[in-house]
Order: sequence, then structure tokens, then C-alpha cells
Amino acid sequence: MALLDVKDLSVEFDTKDGTVHAVSGVDFSLDKGDTLAIVGESGSGKSQTVFSIMGLLANNGRASGSVTYNGQEILNQPDKQLNRIRAEEIAMIFQDPMTSLNPYVRISDQLAEVLMVHKGMSKKAALAESLAMLEAVKIPDAKNRLNMYPHECSGGMRQRIMIAMALLCRPKLLIADEPTTALDVTVQAQIMTLLDEIQKEFGTAIILITHDLGVVADFCRDTMVMYGGRVMEYAPTVEIFDAPTHPYTRGLLQAIPRLDIETEQLNAIPGNPPNMMSDMTGCPFCPRCGFARERCSVELPELVQASPTVKRACHRPVDELVTEEAPA
Ligand SMILES: Nc1ncnc2c1ncn2[C@@H]1O[C@H](COP(=O)(O)OP(=O)(O)OP(=O)(O)O)[C@@H](O)[C@H]1O
Ligand SMILES: [Mg+2]
Repeated sequence: MALLDVKDLSVEFDTKDGTVHAVSGVDFSLDKGDTLAIVGESGSGKSQTVFSIMGLLANNGRASGSVTYNGQEILNQPDKQLNRIRAEEIAMIFQDPMTSLNPYVRISDQLAEVLMVHKGMSKKAALAESLAMLEAVKIPDAKNRLNMYPHECSGGMRQRIMIAMALLCRPKLLIADEPTTALDVTVQAQIMTLLDEIQKEFGTAIILITHDLGVVADFCRDTMVMYGGRVMEYAPTVEIFDAPTHPYTRGLLQAIPRLDIETEQLNAIPGNPPNMMSDMTGCPFCPRCGFARERCSVELPELVQASPTVKRACHRPVDELVTEEAPA
């Protein structure tokens, strides 16, 4: 049985202008210790995919489909049931740690409270465990840090504290939504290294959301590429990098800055993301795709197994993409 099994997950939002189809028919699954990256441009549905899993959609949103955790349905379940799972089984960290840390409460109290509420620990035991966890996420001088308020820490430090807080109850799954976007490059690399060590040490499965394919290269075993709320390609990360089978994935790869090649400008994919309000016929990427044919604008490509390891949603056969000159 998979740790997390997501089937036909869709998310819609009601707005005064109509219905936003934020996520459409997404399938994926994770086993214990797996690492999955969800990548795609802004607005592609990455966050709403995981928010719906965690029961955190905005009030105007609704989710359909199925999400099982250890075989148990968790999608659209009452808060009472979700609260336990959210704290003890699946933890989440966000781009901006300040949205999750209370600025007026000492770090020691914020961390200890998690363990007192969810594990029934005494304050003394909870503080000791909190200190151990700060040390586990490599916070220098953790003992002093524990007595500080969040604003006394740098952004990178706060993100480490968030990670420590998320790990306190030893979750089996950690979901990180753009955890390093707000940090500078050096600190980004340190946080990614930390997540990697945590995955190895605790065997935690990790879902990493990012718009930057560059950061997943060394870290996530599998990568799911989303566009317009749909999965375009889902494959082992090495295959995504070595032989991307979807024109959109190729576009994302060309947009990664490379230190080894001098380029004057990044090759951002021309055009704009789709309007999520309209009822799409055809492939959502079609208007921006250099490989599109007439069929692509009228018929939605399904996500199908292209090889034993790769799934893709594209009408054009892979070998046609290889032989053809990529569009300028
Ligand atoms: N409460 C809401 N009401 C209406 N539309 C919403 C709401 N929340 C999100 N959306 C829309 O859902 C779509 C998917 O959003 P989502 O947050 O999943 O994007 P994302 O891939 O995480 O992007 P980013 O990289 O910018 O975080 C977007 O078009 C967004 O505008
Ligand atoms: Mg997001």
C-alpha cells in the first residue's frame, strides 16, 4: 500500500467571474521515503494540489477525487480527523516561515507547545526535545536561539526553525511549498542539503514544490511537471533532465540558468499561462507549444505511460520531438 495515493484530484474555485479550474485530474503516489518534486510555472496548480490534500483550501474552493494516506481516505474529511494527521503524519512548510511562526511567542514555547498538545509531553520534556530538534536542523547555538523571538532570526534560520517544528512529531511525509524561494542562493543550497539529510536520517517522504527545475535536480527521485492544473509529464528526475518527453518540460529546462554556459538571456517560454476560467478543449500548452498540430487545439491529450517509467500528456510522439528542430 502506498503511503499517499492521489487519484483524479481536481480543485475548483467559485469566483464572481466564474469557476476557476485550478487542478484537473491529477494522479500520483508516494511510498515511504520517496521524494517527489512538483514543478511548473506560477499558477499551474502546484500549491492547490497540496492544499487540497491537507484540507487547507480557501472557502470558495472544493476538491474532488480521492486521496488516501496509508489506505485511509483523507480528502474532504472533517477537521477533527485531519488535525491529527496534519500534525503527526503529514507536515507542511511554506515559502515564508513568518506566516507560520507567531512573532510574539518565543521559539521555545512555539516548538514545545506542538509536543505538549500532540504528544502529551511535559513542558520540560518538550523543551528538551525541541532543543534536540533545533540541533538536528543544524542551528548554531541552539540553546540561545530557543529563547529568541522569530524576528531575531535571519530568513534562513527561520526556515530551519520551521523545518524543526514540522519534524517534531516525526511525520512520515513532509510537504515543502517553495521552501527556499525567499532565500538567497547560498542559504537555498543549505536548506536543500538539510532536507536531503532529513530524508535520509528519518526516512521521511518529501514532496517539494518549486517553479525552479534547477533545485530538484540533485534531490528528488521523481518529478511531476504541471501546467494549467494538469500533469504534463511524470518521470524519474534523471529522465526528465536527460530526455524530457514533453515540449513544456523542455521549455522549463531551457529556462534554468546554467553556470557552465554563457548566455545573454534566459530562454523563458514565450507566451502566457492559460486562462484557468475557460473550459479548455485541447492541450492547455497548445497556444505556446512550438510542436503543436491542429489536433492539439481540439483534443485534450491524456496522461499515458510512454515507457515503463515515464508518463506524458502530449499528442506528438516522442521521436517526432527528437528529430524535429526545436522552435526558435
Ligand atoms: N481562492 C481562490 N479563488 C480563485 N482562484 C484561486 C484561489 N486560489 C488559487 N486560485 C487559482 O488557482 C490557480 C492555481 O494556483 P496555485 O496556487 O496552485 O498555483 P501555483 O502553481 O502554486 O503557483 P505559484 O508558483 O505562483 O505559487 C491559479 O490560477 C490561482 O489564481
Ligand atoms: Mg504556489
